[in-house]
Amino acid sequence: MKKEYAKLNIDDISELFKEEPFDIFIRLGDSKFVKIINFNDNAFEVTLENYQRRGVNYLYCKYDKYQQVLSSLERKIDDALEDANSATSIDESFSGLSNSMMGLKGMITNIGITPVTQKKTENLVNATLKESEKDTKLEVLLELLDQKPGFISKQGLLTSYLVVSMIDEMDWTTEAVKKKLVTASLFQNITLDTDEQAMVTLTASEDFNKLDDYSKDLVKNHPHLGAELVHSPGFGGEEVQKLIKNHHEVPVMGGFPGRVSAHNISIMDSCFIIASHFATTALKKEVIRNNYAIVAQSLNEDFSVGGFKRGYQALLKVVANR
Ligand SMILES: [Fe+2]
Repeated sequence: MKKEYAKLNIDDISELFKEEPFDIFIRLGDSKFVKIINFNDNAFEVTLENYQRRGVNYLYCKYDKYQQVLSSLERKIDDALEDANSATSIDESFSGLSNSMMGLKGMITNIGITPVTQKKTENLVNATLKESEKDTKLEVLLELLDQKPGFISKQGLLTSYLVVSMIDEMDWTTEAVKKKLVTASLFQNITLDTDEQAMVTLTASEDFNKLDDYSKDLVKNHPHLGAELVHSPGFGGEEVQKLIKNHHEVPVMGGFPGRVSAHNISIMDSCFIIASHFATTALKKEVIRNNYAIVAQSLNEDFSVGGFKRGYQALLKVVANR
């Protein structure tokens, strides 16, 4: 049966509506949709705010119209990308991160992250960078991150895009939570020195075994060291620390430090672990014909367990469109 309505996150609607106005509906039952905003309604933002205040997270538009709006938005983004200077929206004073972002653009699109989510994540990354700059301690860390080898900053940026897309698939989150996840994404490997160290996902792996003793110790300790380093209220406090501390707690042999069970993991931690693991795996592999869906599906056995199941389903929706 042809899909008649498209579900829209209420936070995305303003941006889409300004791109190309459309009728907006609310869902009242399985197949009952009622129009609440007309395409030519100039006061649409007031109505949207009212619904947001009432706790409505999703509204709907006609599916055909949605496709039309998206392709118009994609065209705009493509046009912008053609301009070499606008290939990234990351402040160019962060030249390392800005270069990494340019190298990632194509991959992020090929993975299946929608233009709207790309834009939203870019805004969140920029907001995080700007806020960090205001704090003397964090500013130093930011400069450090900007000078890290390409793999470390690319992995941080890619984790941000994945985890924001994944939690967008769920109904529970807020902008504040997303900001914490972006912060943890960017700084998860701040204490590592080399690409080789950052390519390790598990201690039971060839990537880990081939490291020298110093690097092995650093890799084993970097979740803890990173969490200590970002100890600052400006960084989102203990939740960000916990995300960094747990980012290698993959529920298979070699996940480390091994203090968290798959059965008591929080949804926020599990999404972050999955996004971080997938980002490293996808960046490391030569992905044939950009088939990131196969990479995501290959993690099925690792993450179809306990508290990881829901986050893994969200990853499949983002990457494999299932
Ligand atoms: Fe790491």
